[in-house]
Amino acid sequence: MPNEGAEGSCVSLRGPVCRSASSARARAAARALLALPAALILASTAASARGGREVVVGVSWSHFQEERWKIDEASLVAGLRERGARYLSADAQSSSEKQLADIENLITRGVDVLVVVAHDPSALGSALASARAARIPVIAYDRLIEAPDVFYLSFDNRRVGRIQAEQILAVAPSGRFAFIKGSPQDPNTEFVHAGQLDVLRPAIEAGRVEVVGDQYVDGWLPDVAQRVMEQILTRSGGRIDAVVCSNDGMAGGVASALAAAGLSGVPVSGQDGDQAALNRIALGRQTVSVWKDSRALGRAAAEVSAALAGGTAPAQIAGAVPFTTPAGVRVSALLLEPVAITRANLDRVIDAGWATRASVCRGVDAGPQAPPACRAPK
Ligand code: GAL
Repeated sequence: MPNEGAEGSCVSLRGPVCRSASSARARAAARALLALPAALILASTAASARGGREVVVGVSWSHFQEERWKIDEASLVAGLRERGARYLSADAQSSSEKQLADIENLITRGVDVLVVVAHDPSALGSALASARAARIPVIAYDRLIEAPDVFYLSFDNRRVGRIQAEQILAVAPSGRFAFIKGSPQDPNTEFVHAGQLDVLRPAIEAGRVEVVGDQYVDGWLPDVAQRVMEQILTRSGGRIDAVVCSNDGMAGGVASALAAAGLSGVPVSGQDGDQAALNRIALGRQTVSVWKDSRALGRAAAEVSAALAGGTAPAQIAGAVPFTTPAGVRVSALLLEPVAITRANLDRVIDAGWATRASVCRGVDAGPQAPPACRAPK
C-alpha cells in the first residue's frame, strides 16, 4: 500500500499540536509529549488529554457473526466510559463497501480516534487516506492493516495456529488431515495457517500426515464450512483422522458434517472460546478452542485509544513492540497471548467468568470419564 506512508513526524500527534506542526512551539510541545513516560500518558484521562473536550472514539466493526465480537464491544465500551470518552460505532456486516462508507461517516462525525476491525484490509485504502488527512490515529483491531502509522492491536495469531496444531497432533500424531481455513480476505487466516504449518510441516514432509483437504471459507461462515467438510468427506470416502479448523464457528459446521457422516471422535480444533465450542469440548466433540480473552483486547483498545488521542506516538504506547508485517511494513503492535482450552483445563474459562459450569457441562455425564470441570464432586 504505497500511498499509506506516515505523513512526517506529525502523523501520530492529533489536534492543534499536529495541525500547526510548522510552528516551533508546536514542535516543542510534541517533543515534550513524546518525552513523557508512556505510563504517565496512559494514566491521564482521555478527556483531559483533549483539553477538557470529550474524546470520541469511532469503531468500525467487520461483523458480529461470532459471539466474541459483542464481548469485545462491551469491554471496549466499558473502558471508554471509565475514561470519559464517547463511543461511536458502525457494523460493516461483512461488506467492504459498507466498511469504507462507515469509516468515512465516522470521520465526518468528528471522531478523534478510529478503531477498525478490517473486513478486507486491502480494500481500505481510501478510508485510511481520509483518516490520515484528518490526522486521526487508527488502531487495527484484531486484524492487521499494513500501514506504518496504524497501531496493530491483536493476539499472537500465529501462536493461535500453533496451539491448534499442537493439540491436534497430541491426539492424532499421524493420518489423513483436513485444513478448514478462514476467510481469504482476513490476514488472521494466513497467520493462523502459518502457525498450523509451523507445527505440522515436519509430519507432512515425513509422510506421517497426509493432507486430504485444504480450503478457505468465505466469511468464516459455519454453514459454508459444513458444506466444505461434506465435500472433503465425499472425496476421501469418509476417511479422515483430524480436522485442523481455524475457528469455533466453523468447527460447529465441521462437527455437524462429521456427525452426519456417522463419524465420532475425530479431533477438531477451533478458536474464540465460543460457548458451544466449550460444550463440544466437554462432550468430546472438539479437541481444542484457542481462547482469546477478547475482554482484555477490548480494554486494551480503550487504553490505546485514550493514549493516541492524548498525543502518544504509537511506538510509545505502553507494551508496544515493533512488528514487521508480511509485506515488510514496520508497525507498532500490542499482541496478547492466546490460551489453549482442552478437556483438561475447562476450569480456566469457568474460573475467569467467561463461561458458566452449567453451559460448559450441559449434557455431559458427570461420571469419572467426564472432563475434570464436569465431574461430580467426590
Ligand atoms: C478472525 C478473528 C477470529 C474469528 C474470525 C471470524 O479475524 O481473529 O477470532 O472470530 O475472525 O470473525
